[in-house]
Amino acid sequence: MSLTFSLTDARPSAADTDAVVVGVFEDKLMTSAAAELDEASAGALKRLLDSGDVSGKLGQVSRLFQLAGVKAPRVLVVGLGEQPKFDAHRFGRVCADAGKALKGGPAKRATSYLAELDVPGRDLAWKTLTAALVADRENYRYTATVKAKNGTTLGELAFRAPGADAAIARAGAIAAGVELARELGNLPPNICNPGYIAEQGRKLAASESNLSCEVLGRAELEALNMGSLLAVARGSANEPQLVVLKYTGAGDDKPYVLVGKGITFDTGGISLKPGAGMEEMKFDMMGAGSVIGTTLAVARLGLPLNLVTLAVAVENMPDGDAYRPSDVVTTMSGQTVEVLNTDAEGRLILCDALTYAQRFEPKATVDVATLTGACVVALGKHAHGLFSKQDDFAMELHAAGETSLDRAWRLPLWDDYQQQLESGFADMANIGGKYAGAITAACFLARFTENQRWAHLDIAGTAWDEGRKGMATGRPVYLLTQWLMDRTA
Ligand code: BES
Ligand code: MN
Ligand code: ZN
Repeated sequence: MSLTFSLTDARPSAADTDAVVVGVFEDKLMTSAAAELDEASAGALKRLLDSGDVSGKLGQVSRLFQLAGVKAPRVLVVGLGEQPKFDAHRFGRVCADAGKALKGGPAKRATSYLAELDVPGRDLAWKTLTAALVADRENYRYTATVKAKNGTTLGELAFRAPGADAAIARAGAIAAGVELARELGNLPPNICNPGYIAEQGRKLAASESNLSCEVLGRAELEALNMGSLLAVARGSANEPQLVVLKYTGAGDDKPYVLVGKGITFDTGGISLKPGAGMEEMKFDMMGAGSVIGTTLAVARLGLPLNLVTLAVAVENMPDGDAYRPSDVVTTMSGQTVEVLNTDAEGRLILCDALTYAQRFEPKATVDVATLTGACVVALGKHAHGLFSKQDDFAMELHAAGETSLDRAWRLPLWDDYQQQLESGFADMANIGGKYAGAITAACFLARFTENQRWAHLDIAGTAWDEGRKGMATGRPVYLLTQWLMDRTA
């Protein structure tokens, strides 16, 4: 469950809540909320700052209990670092520090005064939305197949942010979309298979009045000549599913289209992946997970635009009937592809979905995919890879990433790289050799989106956190939702 957000005008010392969150800068520089608490507690906070028990160092969170003169039983003092260096990214960071400290209880309700900090270039609505979404992100718990360690956790978070009612409502809508995406990603692939994703699409359409869902199975995909998508699916006992969600918020306007890679498990197929780390490939459906989550957010926001979402759910398995290296497949576009590696399967399912997308005459199309290990090498786990031939489109998405603190960084999509995809046996090969793997993968997709307003996000590094306990991040639901909100402004 995502957090419930609300507004309050209570002073920090008077807030009727389980925990109060205030910030302090380095050099004992109190924010106005901290100063109010200090005054109410007859200088207790100042004494703790003077003694060094509480500091304003970035990353430090002090928990104070039963402060005299303060109604709430707990006060969290969050270090904000040097005041002149405080910016939007640090704001996100300190909201995360506070969120981590609140996760797992015992406080069930908290009131945060962080939204009233000055952040250069950002208004109160942005600060409230960001503080809410960051707190929600940190408070996430996966419980579908495991018991929660702590019984209680934070459930309600209030902000003092007069007039930011719309931001609070928006935060709830976006948090629901992020949560859905993360849940789909974290579920194991024996549960979250293509049929499960299709079922979630249907459930979503049943619960949101402005959403409809249509699912194309093997027979329909065959009738559409999606030879490339179907080749990838051949090794799996699970039928491929192309989930089409339609959101109507603007009558018969042309829609925006989102396309998500939904490989529910990527073994590599006959070009089998090494065993170590293969379990992470349950997250290979997070392109689909994030576009479905974005669709829920947009539906809850009720944005005045139309959106078509294509979630391509397929499993990539080795089998006696699996497709093989050197197979030549015919895509829905009519172009042929020589499969040189069955582990480069994402582009093979996306190319047919991108061809299908054109029937909606999109205003713009964005595909989202955990497409290449090379993108992780290039950008690490911080930025999505962003590709588009249209500079203004790339700038729109980049800006949405900056606004939402869900950042993307552009890589080139020049035709110079196209020659790496040449084949002697088909119109193209599905891999481009050892250099620039994220770019050649994008170049492959570009051959199916000629003359379209199209962008590609490679989320291979950003879709989940590293390690045995690494969870789906819900990115880029934040970026995509922000981009769509910006389109309606
Ligand atoms: N799903 C993987 C990409 C991936 C790898 C995402 C690691 C996140 C972490 C994709 O299907 C894949 O296997 N790509 C290959 C392409 C190669 C065969 C050209 C890769 O990146 O190694
Ligand atoms: Mn693969
Ligand atoms: Zn993959």
